[in-house]
Amino acid sequence: MTDKEKKLIVELAPIVQQQLPKGLFLCVDGGTPNTMTIGWGGTGIFWGKPVFTVPIRPQRFTYPLIQKAQAFIISVPDEGALLQERMQAGTWSGRDGDKFKRLGLETVKGRVVDAPAIKSCKWQIECVVKAAVDLTTDNTSADVVSAMYPARDFHTLFMGEIVACYETER
Ligand SMILES: Cc1cc2nc3c(=O)[nH]c(=O)nc-3n(C[C@H](O)[C@H](O)[C@H](O)COP(=O)(O)O)c2cc1C
Repeated sequence: MTDKEKKLIVELAPIVQQQLPKGLFLCVDGGTPNTMTIGWGGTGIFWGKPVFTVPIRPQRFTYPLIQKAQAFIISVPDEGALLQERMQAGTWSGRDGDKFKRLGLETVKGRVVDAPAIKSCKWQIECVVKAAVDLTTDNTSADVVSAMYPARDFHTLFMGEIVACYETER
């Protein structure tokens, strides 16, 4: 990764944090290209490397796709852009058809990983999965379990090493 990309990862961290409550697009291709909205996660340092961690529940169509692909792209829109699309990508499932098409979102190929990226988003963060950690009743605080996981549908935390980070050519 270039120094420019490393610098952009740091600059994007607070923007990612600010935008997460409205959702960011996670794009994947594990046989079927798909996107879903994430509202949690973010950039950190693990193993001396920049890592983007995303929590995904097992019932998502995206779940087996990311397991198979072992890679994903976070497409970060301009602040305030694509708000309806973020909500719909987080409501509709890829099981019911091609969400990119339904949402009118043009994709481009990832530069490094084999996944689509949403062209109308300002930045792309490309990641290769290096660890997948299942939350369980044993490793999660009881108050979080009762508040967030009454159905015991625990997230898996997919930890993706950031291998490319850039502003989209549009
Ligand atoms: C704002 C917002 C944030 C969301 N954050 C997450 C998340 O972090 N993890 C998750 O598993 N689902 C999250 N969801 C729900 C999924 O995006 C939603 O279930 C989606 O339809 C899954 O698509 P899929 O079945 O095509 O994978 C979020 C939804 C919205 C609207």
